[in-house]
Amino acid sequence: MTTTAPPEVIYLDHNATTPVAPEVLDAMLPYLTQQYGNPSSDHPLGRRARQAVEDAREQVASLIGAAPSEIVFTSGGIESNNLAIRGSTAAAVAARRRIVTSLVEHPATARPCALLETQGWTVTRLPVTGGGTLDLDAAIHALDTDVALLTVMLAQNETGAIMPVAAAAATARMLGIITHTDAAQAIGKIHVNVDTLGVNLLSIAGHKFYAPKGVGALYVRTGTPLQPMLLGAEQEAGLRPGTENVASIVGLGVACHLAQGRLDIEEHRLSNLRDHLWEKLSVRIPGLIRHTPASDTLPNTLMVSFPAVHGRDVLARADGVAASTGSACHSGLHTPSATLLAMGVQAEIALGSVRLSLGHDNTLAEIATAADILVGAYRTASATTSRGHDAA
Ligand SMILES: Cc1ncc(COP(=O)(O)O)c(C=O)c1O
Repeated sequence: MTTTAPPEVIYLDHNATTPVAPEVLDAMLPYLTQQYGNPSSDHPLGRRARQAVEDAREQVASLIGAAPSEIVFTSGGIESNNLAIRGSTAAAVAARRRIVTSLVEHPATARPCALLETQGWTVTRLPVTGGGTLDLDAAIHALDTDVALLTVMLAQNETGAIMPVAAAAATARMLGIITHTDAAQAIGKIHVNVDTLGVNLLSIAGHKFYAPKGVGALYVRTGTPLQPMLLGAEQEAGLRPGTENVASIVGLGVACHLAQGRLDIEEHRLSNLRDHLWEKLSVRIPGLIRHTPASDTLPNTLMVSFPAVHGRDVLARADGVAASTGSACHSGLHTPSATLLAMGVQAEIALGSVRLSLGHDNTLAEIATAADILVGAYRTASATTSRGHDAA
């Protein structure tokens, strides 16, 4: 059994999701068949399932420098963010009714914050620099004793920009503010340590690093006030009740273990491949724009804008390459990426954006082929379309 992409596709969309690693699948399968016990059951099958969940908890904790008791299993990034943001604000004292976040958060953060805004909370949305990272001066200026929660993502899903979370959290901590970071895109790609970051809460999404979809975790620093969003039973210390998704939790644990073992090698290998891809594209496409500097970006992510064409027109012609545009489609109308706009990129340039996100299975030969395909697609797109026609 293979978990690599079908041979006709060069998969450069790892920030959207990743395949399940073979080691992860192998570890999961017994918990879907023979070892099907409920971890709450007090018999050998139940106890084996409980042990598997606790082993996975240790593996997740170990990857981020946490204690196993600080890991709460969830269904993924969105649920972890909701629990962190809604659960910590629900537990906040009345004197703190403000949330500080950034303008470039995933909807998994932006929408819970917007909901709280309708419920009497004030939300301060921090700007980012032209290179896509959080404006730290603005963050430090915005933090005060009326703030309950600082929530800023660790790495941006579109651009791959890595945010100065540790520096912002250090100021927040001195003011008694609870800190959360959405690390869904960072885990498995760069080293993440909860003490180095100094955060109270950190979200993990399994399917972004070779575990299955529908499983994740929230790191909850011991002593952090947090209310559950779901009620019904006592699993996960009452913070996330519901019979555990044992097989997927086992898979998440193994994915964390794999990430820990290969992080250094993969970080280096992927950033070389990514920079090679940029070179191959930029020498043949004059005017191609790279949106974030390599130094402050996830090693696997390259967000570019093709000149004078729409990113979606390039990808539509890039047969054999799977990647994403930065633009969103609403009722047939394409709108530029809000992230790029927040970085000060002009709308026309933002519409030309494509996100290329590499992963464990990509090879140098694939990157060379993908570059050829993308250059060909760009040339055809610019010969056959113009933004003027598209906008009509
Ligand atoms: C930064 C970020 N946060 C949260 C999520 C949501 O994660 P999940 O799909 O596991 O709910 C994603 C997924 O796209 C993401 O990129």
